[in-house]
Amino acid sequence: MFLDTANITEIEAILPFQWLSGVTTNPTLLAKEKGKTRAIISREILSLLDENQRLFIQATGETQAELYEDAQTILSKDARIAIKIPADQNGFCVMAQLKQERPDVEILATAIFSVEQSYLAALAGCDWVAPYVNRMANQGLHATRIISDTATLFKQLGVPTKILGASFKNTAQITETLIAGATDVTISADLVEVMMANKLATDSIQTFQLHAKGGRI
Ligand code: E4P
Repeated sequence: MFLDTANITEIEAILPFQWLSGVTTNPTLLAKEKGKTRAIISREILSLLDENQRLFIQATGETQAELYEDAQTILSKDARIAIKIPADQNGFCVMAQLKQERPDVEILATAIFSVEQSYLAALAGCDWVAPYVNRMANQGLHATRIISDTATLFKQLGVPTKILGASFKNTAQITETLIAGATDVTISADLVEVMMANKLATDSIQTFQLHAKGGRI
């Protein structure tokens, strides 16, 4: 599981549970951290992660050349950085180019809304595809069907590309995505808290606490 945030306090709060394989960011999440550049935020997040955890940063650019150059800049900072490349015409070309030049670089194809995009990203050699579950739902798309079809296709093709579900607005979307065949999910800190807080469990635990009072040896 990954945490979808660029906020240091949120990362510090979740890290002790030892659930995290890393942190995913995007330009919108970075922009929320007012007054800090992408470089500063990346350094701060990397200082909290261990050598096996990944920080995903999204490359941006109006042209293929700009996108490629930004990806190279991002990747030059730290070996724990994995690159997010948007799954559009420029992006597909940059993914393939990066993989060909540096097979060790980990690439996530982002902004996935279809099986077709995932297929092309897998052909380009991407390590992950990130279907945007809630944004699909908002457009009337059947996100879990798209994810399970993608998982079936990847299995059939024998490609190692993994599905990292993203863009969730409730916890049911997260579990449905995993059951549909995603191997990973990236979740906001708010939703991780919701996943932890089960009212029935809290009530049961409180009752046990009450009964245990004075009964300890
Ligand atoms: C992660 O890779 C995506 O950028 C992110 O999950 C998008 O989430 P949103 O739809 O909540 O902005």
